[in-house]
Amino acid sequence: MASVRRIFYKYAKCLALIVICTFFAQIIISISFFPSIHDNLLKRNSYNSKSKSDMGDMSARKIIAGVGDDEDYPPKGSHQHNKVVPQLRLEELDFTPTCDIKSREAISAIHRAKSQLCKQQIVNKTCLIQNGNFYPKHLPNYCVSKNLAYGRHLGCYLDEKKLRLLSSYYGNYANINSPTFCLDICVQAGFPYAGVQYSSECFCGEQKPPASAETSDGLCDMNCPGDPSQKCGGYFTMNVYETGLDKFVPQVPQNSNIKEVSVKIVFLLTLNGRALRQVHRLINSLYRTNHYFYIHVDQRQDYLHRKLSKLEKRFTNVRLATKRYSTIWGGASLLKMLLDSMKDIIRLGWKWDYVINLSESDFPIKSLEELEKFLSANKGFNFVKSHGREVQRFIKKQGLDKTFIECETHMWRVGERKLPQGIVIDGGSDWIALSPDFVSYIVANHDELLVGLNVIFKHTLLPAESFFHTVLRNSRFCNTYVDNNLHVTNWKRKLGCKCQYKHVVDWCGCSPNDFRTEDWLRIQNTQNRQLFFARKFEPIINQEIITRVEQFIGFTDHNLISNLDAYWQNLYDVQDLTASTDDSLLTHAESIIRHNAKILAEEGCKIQLQEVIEMNVYKYADVYKGNLILYKALVNNQEAILETWYKPKQHLDLNVKNQDTEYIKFFKVSSDYDQKEMTFRNLGNILGPFSEPVLLYQFSPHIDKNVGNFTVLWLDPAGVVADVNMVHRDENNLTNFIKPNIKQPLLPGVWKVGLFDQTNTVAVTEFLITPLEYFSGKEVTQQEAILIHSGSQNSYKNISFVKPINFIPIHANRLLLAEISNANTKRINSDLMEWIDSLSIEFYNVLGSCILFNDDNVTQTDRVMCGKYKFQQCILSVWSSQSPDPKGFIGKLDKKTGRLNRV
Ligand SMILES: *[C@@H]1O[C@H](CO)[C@@H](O)[C@H](O)[C@H]1NC(C)=O
Ligand SMILES: *[C@@H]1O[C@H](CO)[C@@H](O)[C@H](O)[C@H]1NC(C)=O
Ligand SMILES: *[C@@H]1O[C@H](CO)[C@@H](O)[C@H](O)[C@H]1NC(C)=O
Ligand SMILES: *[C@@H]1O[C@H](CO)[C@@H](O)[C@H](O)[C@H]1NC(C)=O
Ligand SMILES: *[C@@H]1O[C@H](CO)[C@@H](O)[C@H](O)[C@H]1NC(C)=O
Ligand SMILES: *[C@@H]1O[C@H](CO)[C@@H](O)[C@H](O)[C@H]1NC(C)=O
Repeated sequence: MASVRRIFYKYAKCLALIVICTFFAQIIISISFFPSIHDNLLKRNSYNSKSKSDMGDMSARKIIAGVGDDEDYPPKGSHQHNKVVPQLRLEELDFTPTCDIKSREAISAIHRAKSQLCKQQIVNKTCLIQNGNFYPKHLPNYCVSKNLAYGRHLGCYLDEKKLRLLSSYYGNYANINSPTFCLDICVQAGFPYAGVQYSSECFCGEQKPPASAETSDGLCDMNCPGDPSQKCGGYFTMNVYETGLDKFVPQVPQNSNIKEVSVKIVFLLTLNGRALRQVHRLINSLYRTNHYFYIHVDQRQDYLHRKLSKLEKRFTNVRLATKRYSTIWGGASLLKMLLDSMKDIIRLGWKWDYVINLSESDFPIKSLEELEKFLSANKGFNFVKSHGREVQRFIKKQGLDKTFIECETHMWRVGERKLPQGIVIDGGSDWIALSPDFVSYIVANHDELLVGLNVIFKHTLLPAESFFHTVLRNSRFCNTYVDNNLHVTNWKRKLGCKCQYKHVVDWCGCSPNDFRTEDWLRIQNTQNRQLFFARKFEPIINQEIITRVEQFIGFTDHNLISNLDAYWQNLYDVQDLTASTDDSLLTHAESIIRHNAKILAEEGCKIQLQEVIEMNVYKYADVYKGNLILYKALVNNQEAILETWYKPKQHLDLNVKNQDTEYIKFFKVSSDYDQKEMTFRNLGNILGPFSEPVLLYQFSPHIDKNVGNFTVLWLDPAGVVADVNMVHRDENNLTNFIKPNIKQPLLPGVWKVGLFDQTNTVAVTEFLITPLEYFSGKEVTQQEAILIHSGSQNSYKNISFVKPINFIPIHANRLLLAEISNANTKRINSDLMEWIDSLSIEFYNVLGSCILFNDDNVTQTDRVMCGKYKFQQCILSVWSSQSPDPKGFIGKLDKKTGRLNRV
């Protein structure tokens, strides 16, 4: 009992912590998100009345850049400062901090971190940083000009309102401006000239001011606010300095008319998730014997890793990373993983000309031949894509001026930092194509620049989006910089910037959307551009677009491919190392199999489940067709492997009262709602007591906007209202979702959700919370069952609402339901299974079963009789995960071309 309690409390504690953390994260995000000094200052008119519109072409670069492909764009929050710095609650620490922590962000992070180890890591680092010797203050730039010298004063120049002397950057720094300060800013942005004016203004530019504008030093007579011993220009006069950098001009790659193609590429695949078949399809589209594949699979994805290991045995040019990391979105470990992978690639001694970084959601949009030609013509260049906006703005948006510490698979923000002087800061997309010289330079990692940048980027959010760019701009490789990452990215910021990573980083980030069939033009339009890959693609969301892309890039044999429009994605594998999250999956699967066995028993076919091997989601032509369970069983006492196909029943009851207007088009509960793709990831609606249900609804456009609000009620299986939500009609045709506020564990059984217009029912749906037969991979004990299956009724909120007609059971019925519910908590073993099965039958339909033959001698037409039931072979059942799926085959090698034949 004690241990059960502990497990249970662990769950409860975790939950509480998650709630608290989210709460904190929200507060923090809202108080101090990204004030952009530049923005704020631009808004304020400076006192010699240069308004923003007077800045003329100054913001041109920014405006052009705005459309760019920058990877992250945290939305702005209000900027308020609470002056009271909280105290660290020492009683919560089992160690003594080595210093008095001053940063409020660090204090918040220390309190939010769960483990003492992580708290101590944050404390230790914060103290080091506070002492001032942690980050380098200055770093060498190995890409300086031969003709210009840092800080050389060119003189005092007359500026004009209409035609600015230095027009690439403008900032107003009322308290801190000085020539050195302004020089730092212009160096950071990579401009050759810096100028100070009217005491507080700093300008950067690419062109040397004309000699005709030079005037007497006496006209630059205003003192600098940051250094009164120096002059900072005057009224329309500017002290101009050289930064020591040449004007930056990225290289322009050649379009190739090369005959001789001679390029070897390392495809560095960094993979996550379970989309094995898509990974195969990607590799197949890029495979040649003369290229290499280096594959890093996230530490937690043992399914993908296990399956891909097989490729390593088949192909000598495929290698899997042996040292694996659990990377999180934006995490510092991402860079560590990439650098380690690159080190490994060099260690392997492969001869190559480019390393190209890809993930499971990338796909080529030009043929491999075109990529080979292009790279052959441009050897030695390094392809990265810059944010293209104003650098100070980029630094703020990206959080480069903050320290982040990664532990507990979270990036904790612990305070401000100052980036080192002397170097250009650059960044943008983290998709890259790099030359071997540059990669060798980076991984050797011994000059002062690299050592310094490594310290900085170990504590940087989204490090891969700036590290490579910054090294490139400040190293001897600066003349190999190409501002093109060869990728087109499907940004839909309205959908992709929902602060969806708050649980893993103290920041708001954006993600690109999946391409769907309707995005086709966007891909087609890249035909004449130097773009070779696109992202993101996910066949579980849309596979048709991938097939279309394949045709586009020259696959001609699609008509030969069977099951072209089918897609299977694994949900569960018996060899998976992570058991606990699969408790409800496994419970559910076994129940479906028993349900199927009952159906077959009526035909005299006796099936006894031995072990579930795999579960898959099955889609055809991008429509969800159901789930599949592959399992070992005794079939009339003979061992066999079967697969069963089933699908959830529709449980939407559109109870429309108004004859003319259909109020609602969609009303459904499942879990794992993906806000960005606007879809449930839990396609089979498999929910257990520890799931987080979400209601997704969509009003019809006909709905009258002027009537009142709707009420949503969540009724638990015992007939008690667990939560009440209000829905506003002005949201009408928009799809929207509600996460109810109900504590876990959820009471198992059939839940009802209703949408009401006053007392009238508009729509009702049901969803099933399957009781658990397994807990942490083992059969539940009596005590566990009681704890988990009692639900969380005591914590329901007491909210008043208008009671709809006929939805909430009358008192007598509620007593009865409570009694049943209570009795159910005591059910265990076969009694528990019976309960589970009675629920599954209500919610799922079995659609078919097939049998797997291992015997090569069985002919194609053979079927297996079991009683009166005829099993079809899985290989011949189009829905079966065992039927051929050649689009994912990495096929037989064509000796002549070195290419894999697809069928
Ligand atoms: C933090 O610093 C203390 C004192 O220097 C040291 O004993 C401890 O091991 C450090 N802990 C971590 C997690 O770095
Ligand atoms: C490479 O690809 C992964 C996605 O799999 C991405 O997160 C990472 O930052 C990329 N960047 C580099 C520089 O390799
Ligand atoms: C609907 O709810 C909103 C927010 O609670 C409220 O301001 C509004 O007055 C309500 N409308 C009606 C017609 O009740
Ligand atoms: C909602 O309806 C309005 C008017 O019918 C339409 O302009 C708008 O695009 C719709 N929005 C969505 C998200 O469907
Ligand atoms: C719920 O609140 C109502 C009034 O708001 C009160 O009369 C009732 O006793 C409360 N019920 C419980 C169970 O607290
Ligand atoms: C297939 O049939 C051949 C000849 O009938 C036999 O030698 C062989 O063992 C059989 N193979 C299997 C796997 O049963």
